[in-house]
Amino acid sequence: MPKIVIAIDGYSSCGKSTTAKQVAARLGYAYIDTGAMYRAVSLFLLQNHIALTNPKAVQEALHHIHISFNFNPKTGRNETCLNSLNIEEEIRKMYISDIVSEVSAIPEVRYAMVAQQQKMGRKRGVVMDGRDIGTKVFPDAELKIFMTADPVIRAQRRQIELLQKGEMVGLDEILTNLKKRDFIDSNRSEGPLRKADDAIELDTSYITLDEQADWVVQLADEKI
Ligand code: C5P
Repeated sequence: MPKIVIAIDGYSSCGKSTTAKQVAARLGYAYIDTGAMYRAVSLFLLQNHIALTNPKAVQEALHHIHISFNFNPKTGRNETCLNSLNIEEEIRKMYISDIVSEVSAIPEVRYAMVAQQQKMGRKRGVVMDGRDIGTKVFPDAELKIFMTADPVIRAQRRQIELLQKGEMVGLDEILTNLKKRDFIDSNRSEGPLRKADDAIELDTSYITLDEQADWVVQLADEKI
C-alpha cells in the first residue's frame, strides 16, 4: 500500500498534535511534532543566552542543536530530546510558549528545521503537524488539513492541559499568548502560517478529539 504524507497545520491549541498522534497510531505512520522542534531551539537559545536579534550567533548555535524523538515505553509516547537530553516536559511550559514564535520567525531557524523535517518525512508514511507543513515543508503532501477553533475554547483547552501538568496559568494569560503567537506566526516573512490552497479546513471548536481523528483517518483512507 502506498504511504502518504499527512500535513496538519493551523492555529495554536486546536488539537493538531493530539489528532496527528492518534491518526499516526491508527495508520501505523510516524508522527512528527514540528512545534516541539521550534520549542527545543527556543530552550537551547535561552539556556545559552543567545540573543534572538543576532542572526550570526543563532546560526552558530544551530550547529550545536541536535533534536530527536525517542519512544518512551513507560508513557507510550515519543518524547523530544535535545542533544540526547529529554526535554519533553520543559518545552511545554509557558516561558517557552512566550518566546517560541519569536524564535521560529528567525529565517535561519526555519531553514534548518524545514530541512530536517523534509529529511524525516522523505520516506513518506508520516503525519506532521505545524504551521507551514502543507505550504512549505511538504507542498506535495497527499492530504492537507487546516485546523481552526474559537480562541476562547482553545485557551480553555490549553489551560486544562497545563493544569494536568501542574502548571496553573490564568485564562487571560493563555489567551494573550495564543493570540500573540497566531499573529507572529501569520505575519512572519519566512513560512508564515497560512492555509494551503488545497487544504481542507476543519473547525474543531465543537467536536471531540476522537471525532477529529476519525475524520482525518477517513480522508486518509480515501487517498491511500
Ligand atoms: O505546535 P506548537 O504550539 O507547539 O508550536 C509552537 C510554536 O512553534 C508555534 O507557535 C510557532 O511559532 C512555531 N511553529 C512554527 N512552524 C511549525 C511548527 C511550529 O513556526 N511548523
